Amino acid sequence: MGAASENLTRPLQLNFCGLDFASPIVLLSGCVGFGEEYTRIAGFSNRDAGAVVLKGTTLQPRLGNAPHRVYETPAGMLNAIGLQNPGADFVVRRILPELDFSETRFIANVSGSTVDEYVEVTRRFDQSPIDAIEINISCPNVKEGGVAFGNYPDMSAQVVAACRQVTDKPLITKLSPNQTNIRENARRCIEAGSDALSVINTIMGMAIDVQSRRPVIGNVQGGLSGPAIKPIALLKVHQVYEVARRHHVPIIGQGGITTAVDALEFIIAGASAVGVGTSLFYDPMVCKKINAGITEYLTAQGLASVEQLVGTLRVSEADATAQAD
Ligand SMILES: Cc1cc2nc3c(=O)[nH]c(=O)nc-3n(C[C@H](O)[C@H](O)[C@H](O)COP(=O)(O)O)c2cc1C
Repeated sequence: MGAASENLTRPLQLNFCGLDFASPIVLLSGCVGFGEEYTRIAGFSNRDAGAVVLKGTTLQPRLGNAPHRVYETPAGMLNAIGLQNPGADFVVRRILPELDFSETRFIANVSGSTVDEYVEVTRRFDQSPIDAIEINISCPNVKEGGVAFGNYPDMSAQVVAACRQVTDKPLITKLSPNQTNIRENARRCIEAGSDALSVINTIMGMAIDVQSRRPVIGNVQGGLSGPAIKPIALLKVHQVYEVARRHHVPIIGQGGITTAVDALEFIIAGASAVGVGTSLFYDPMVCKKINAGITEYLTAQGLASVEQLVGTLRVSEADATAQAD
């Protein structure tokens, strides 16, 4: 599986939708630029991650939202970047050739304002060396599209089915936590052809400057990420896993993961891989610590592979039935 795994232990390796991951860690979209950003930091390596998800990409370039775009909150941060990106053609022609595909697996993150735009961006990545495609139907920071697709199962399924038509690459759908029935949405996305699910995107929030009495974020609202959302994200993974496991569809669990114990909680809840985003901002070396902590736990538990831990949450049959209702 290439050089990606040379520093990592065998128990961390996994197969995700036919792709070899050297570690269950996935670097999350919007938190690592286009895969090159952190490689400038001494000691950081993309090889410590099983996969890296690129910044959300639309058909045309976007300048993003007016400032402020980020704001630190207790145990988290708000962001409303507004999908700033150079457009799909630039990413495919200029950025992808610069990436070292021996380091890790690279995943595109596709956004759009219409179903057609999602399809066109997916088509461009299909004809590129990218390893997999994540459909972001859950971006809370753009006026059209984004979360409008993610909060309604019919529309989510429509986007997934349309993208499915134009690619055979692994298709991962990123679900919104800002909806009432995430299980139903997960089921519809799987039936529409999604090979995997990302759970969850950010949760909508806001902050107010009491002196000016204005919203701090230029977009008024933003997406909350970081440790503040971890318990919510964990429950959503637990709920989605009840549906996804029946279809053998893997989950990338994410939302506030900062430590190996956080990552282990998500894996036990049903995530095959675990996303790291906001925590990179204050500790770019966090992946090494999480990999080491997971390895130590697997050894202590007598498990030969991280794959054996996925979905091993101990709940009684009665509890499981009650929760599903
Ligand atoms: C600054 C910032 C930008 C983001 N941009 C994107 C994006 O372009 N596409 C996407 O699907 N998710 C985006 N996200 C959401 C993250 O990928 C991730 O799902 C979320 O932050 C939860 O994980 P975390 O708490 O570990 O950061 C962004 C998050 C942050 C903090």
